[in-house]
Order: sequence, then C-alpha cells, then structure tokens
Amino acid sequence: MPTTQNPLRDPADRRLPRIAGPGGLVLFGVTGDLARKKLLPAIYDLANRGLLPPGFGLTGYGRRDWDHDHFRSVAREAIEAHCRTPFDEHVWAQLAKGFRFVQGTFDDEEGFTNLARTVAELDAERGTGGNHAFYLSIPPDKFPQVCEQLSRSGLSTAQPGTWRRVVIEKPFGSDLESARELNDVVEQVFPADAVFRIDHYLGKETVQNLLAMRFANQLFEPIWNANYVDHVQITMAEDIGIGSRAGYYDGIGAARDVIQNHLLQLLALTAMEEPVSFDADALRTEKEKVLSSVRLPADLSRHTARGQYAAGWQGGEQVAGYLQEDGVPPDSLTETYAAIRLDLDTRRWAGVPFYLRAGKRLGRRVTEIAVVFKRAPHLPFDLNETQELGHNALVIRVQPDEGVTIRFGSKVPGTAMEVRDVTMDFGYGHSFTESSPEAYERLLLDVLLGDPPLFPHQREVELSWEILDPIIEAWSEFGQPDQYRAGTWGPASADEMLAQDGRTWRRP
Ligand code: BG6
Repeated sequence: MPTTQNPLRDPADRRLPRIAGPGGLVLFGVTGDLARKKLLPAIYDLANRGLLPPGFGLTGYGRRDWDHDHFRSVAREAIEAHCRTPFDEHVWAQLAKGFRFVQGTFDDEEGFTNLARTVAELDAERGTGGNHAFYLSIPPDKFPQVCEQLSRSGLSTAQPGTWRRVVIEKPFGSDLESARELNDVVEQVFPADAVFRIDHYLGKETVQNLLAMRFANQLFEPIWNANYVDHVQITMAEDIGIGSRAGYYDGIGAARDVIQNHLLQLLALTAMEEPVSFDADALRTEKEKVLSSVRLPADLSRHTARGQYAAGWQGGEQVAGYLQEDGVPPDSLTETYAAIRLDLDTRRWAGVPFYLRAGKRLGRRVTEIAVVFKRAPHLPFDLNETQELGHNALVIRVQPDEGVTIRFGSKVPGTAMEVRDVTMDFGYGHSFTESSPEAYERLLLDVLLGDPPLFPHQREVELSWEILDPIIEAWSEFGQPDQYRAGTWGPASADEMLAQDGRTWRRP
C-alpha cells in the first residue's frame, strides 16, 4: 500500500519528480532583507512541503561574528515571521541540523577556505553529495570578488557526477554594456548552463498560468492577435515607497528596476508564439523573438512618461515625497513611475500597442496584464443602448487577488435592450484549495533541480537593455520627472500619453 505520509514512497504523488535530490545552498547576503523575508522562509516552506532532501544543507556566509547556533536562531526568527506554511517544530529541527554559518568578508581568502571546508563537511555529514548552489544576494559590484574567490577556493568546480550552480539576482547590470561585463565575470567562473538568473516574476503562479491559459485552451488563442486586440496594458503598481532602499533605488529608477526585467518578461510571455515545448531553449527562443521585434516610439517625449512621487496620503497616512525620503539627494532625477509604449513588428501584433507602466506610491498594489479587444465591427443597437458598453477585455490578475477577469457587455434586466459591461471572474482562491507557493519557493527548487525554463537567459537580458537604453538616454535630457501625488495613479503626462492615442489607462 502506498503511504500518503511519505511522498517518497507514494508512486501516485505528482510531486515526486519535483523533489530535489541531495544538495545544498550557500547564501551570500544572508543578513539582507531578501534572505530574511523571502529566501529563508521559502527554504523552510519547501522543507515543510517535503520537497527538499532530508540532508539538505544551508550555509550562510557573512561578516557577522556568529556561530552556527546563532545563525539558526536568526534564521528561525525570520522564518517564523515570514513563512507561508505553518511552522512545525519537527520540520524545523530536521532542517536546522543542516544550517551552518561561516564568517568572512568577500576579499577574505581564509573565509572562503573555511567555506570550502564547511561544504565538504556537509557532504560527509549530511550527504549533500558534492552538489551546491551559490546564491549571490549581494550588490552586483561584489560579484567579481565573490566569483574569483569561489574559483580560487575550488568551490565553483564540480567534480564528475556532481553539480555547482550560481544564482544571481537582478539588477543584471544597469545598461547593455554593464550587463555584458557582469555576465563575463560570472561566466568566466561558471559555465553558462550553471548560471541561474532570478526574475522572481517568472516564479509567480499567475505568470506561469499565462502559458497554461494561452496554450492549454482553444478559447483564447484564435483572438490573441491584431485582428481582435486593440491594445495591451501591463501594469505593475505598488503602494509602497522606496522605504530604506534609497541606496539601491536612487539612480536606478522604475524603468531599470522593474520594466527591464519583470514587465518585459510579462510582455514576452503575453506576445510570444506557442513554443514547441516548455523547455528552456524552446521558451527562450520565443521570448527572444518578441524582444527582438520591439519597436520604440518615434517620439519618446510623447510616448513615454516619467514621474516622481510627491508627498500625499496613502492608506489614511501622510507619506513623504521621494525627494524627502532618507538617503535621496534633494535634486534627484530618478523616476519612481515610468510608462512606455512599445510596438511589435510582427504579423500577429502589427498596429497593437503594448503600454507598460510601473510605479511606486500609486493608488494601490496591483500587477495585471489587460488585453483590451477592439469593439465589435457593427453594433445593431440604438446608440443610447450601448452608451455604457466599453471594450471587451481579458485581465490576468497577477497579484493580489490572483486570477483572470473577462469583461464583456450584457443586457441590463428590463424592458429595453440596454447593454452594459459585466465581468466574469476566475479566482485562484476560489477554485483551488491549496494556496499558491511563493515565487522563491518555485525558483529555489528549480535551482536545486537544475531546471532552467523560468530563468531568463543572458540574451533576453541583453535584448531588454537594448530596448531600454535609448529610452533612458533620452530621459536623461528631459530634466526633472513630472511630480505626482502619492496615492494617485501617476503623472498627468502618462494620461496624456494614452489620450493622444484615443485610449485611457485602466483604473484597477
Ligand atoms: C523587485 C523590485 O524586483 O520587485 C522592487 O526591485 C519591487 O522595487 C519588487 O518592490 C516587487 O515585487 P512583488 O513580488 O512584491 O511584486
């Protein structure tokens, strides 16, 4: 009888091929926000779901004067505060046995020698089998040093039958040239297929659902083209400001922070042709075709918009403007809002603009892809009967309230043939009992499994910079970004940008 207690013994368990084999993770930047709020909790949640090997090893590397136990207690605190699944003492006790901490700086040869020893000890004591991934959750300017040390200490070299991988977090450079330089540094030490670039949006269930929705159904694909689609709006709105991240964010801005990666990946998945399979090469081929077909607006001053949040009210609280945030120079030109029109020179999308917008301190937190359809070519109604009929739309609600909405016209009950917009909703929360895993759970698991489809390839990164570089260069000559009040939906110039095309932004 198969037991449902131990997934390893249940041949019917569909998770079976997705349980990581022996291996470990070395985390650089273990005291950072990402590690505390996302990575450590994701590791715990994976363990709690039975998806990590029993002897999994996690090694933190950092400057702090911590021993293994202190690291365990710091990790436990972070996990208890941020884990998604219930905290279970038994799971934690088993997982924590594989936690180690090695003290050292990035330029400290002895530290890396100790790290190599610790990793070897894990292999001997926990059965990690010589398989290790190095997660660089550190500023990119530290990558050269860390990669060099990993190479010198032998840590980057996989022995036959084992693997070594490196995981890097965005930003992958700040323009095309720096992205190439960064990649050269990493690929001098790790072979290209051992480099996993994290774009955490690709780990989100709703983003993967875009592929399921488009390619598992007959309903959508026939109308997913210029014959039926008027335009597409991709929105990533955040209600938060930059918080304590001025050091990272200032000089980077919304376009480099999230359009270069998250939004252009969403655009690629929305616009691409059906891949021959979902393996990494097939997916990347299709995404690259989309990114290569992007045409920038002829007049960037009319078809892009930039904004910077000014003080305002949000969630009943008064909040500071960007220029008043800690660590932001009072004359900063960094945009906290960016909107861009892009066109794709393909038969499928000829004449269909893709409008991308992202911003901080907007009306509310929402990420969505709205495919807005053309009006019916003929409406056999009196004009006043369809006054409240808008465009049909299909909206993929990436977050929060994950799901899909279809908007269409319906008869208003009554004696007249009045038509008004209504919506039909699919919500993950209503249709499935299991809550969606966090993006980092999926991505960390894929790193351990060596499964690359959800990780952007270097060529995609470069193509994205090729799109963005001329825009950012033009902006550098435009002076101060337009101001918008915190809690609103961005600068007036963004509304004007759409108005001149006879369109309006959705107010999600
Ligand atoms: C990160 C950006 O990549 O994504 C942040 O650097 C942003 O500025 C964050 O806040 C948003 O992620 P999510 O998953 O909360 O939408």
